[in-house]
Amino acid sequence: MPPPSKLAHVVYMTRRYEQMLDWYQKVFQATVQYQNSAFAFLTYDDEHHRFAFANMSVLTPDSMDTDSIAKVGVNHVGYTYSSIAELLDTYERLKHLDITPYWQVHHGLTLSIYYRDPDGNRMEFQVDCCANAEEAHVYMNSDVFAGNPVGVEVSFDSLLEKYRSGVQLKTLLVQPEGAAASIPAIHGLT
Ligand SMILES: [Fe+2]
Repeated sequence: MPPPSKLAHVVYMTRRYEQMLDWYQKVFQATVQYQNSAFAFLTYDDEHHRFAFANMSVLTPDSMDTDSIAKVGVNHVGYTYSSIAELLDTYERLKHLDITPYWQVHHGLTLSIYYRDPDGNRMEFQVDCCANAEEAHVYMNSDVFAGNPVGVEVSFDSLLEKYRSGVQLKTLLVQPEGAAASIPAIHGLT
């Protein structure tokens, strides 16, 4: 079974939002693809985001924690699989190893499952839903994304069942209708 096709992005939690955005733009010559008061996506190549920043001063304003690794620093690392088939096969392989995700969500931009390693480090295994970075950029700046930037919860068991029964991969990639997913507490952003 193939490994991820690439390491896609790193998401940081910060209470120095503007400074961090400035630093990554200077150091990596990255450009901002999307930004609101709570989240920003930056890239330096044809990936739709190489970095994302979560502004913890907005997301958890009551905490005065500025330097604890649990509240600032890496939130998760994202790995891309080259197809939904590979992502679903991986989900099933891990399930047989008793390794289960803590969040299953269709972000619009990506279909994603999140895991934690034994130390609690988070990672996202994803497949791209947009054909290319340009399409992703358009999506990030759409009303749909503004209305629900987190996405909709999905069931990988159900996706796997549909995949095994022959539903087209393209169909499986479509974001389902539904309420905005809530971010699980274990994800560390809320
Ligand atoms: Fe991510």
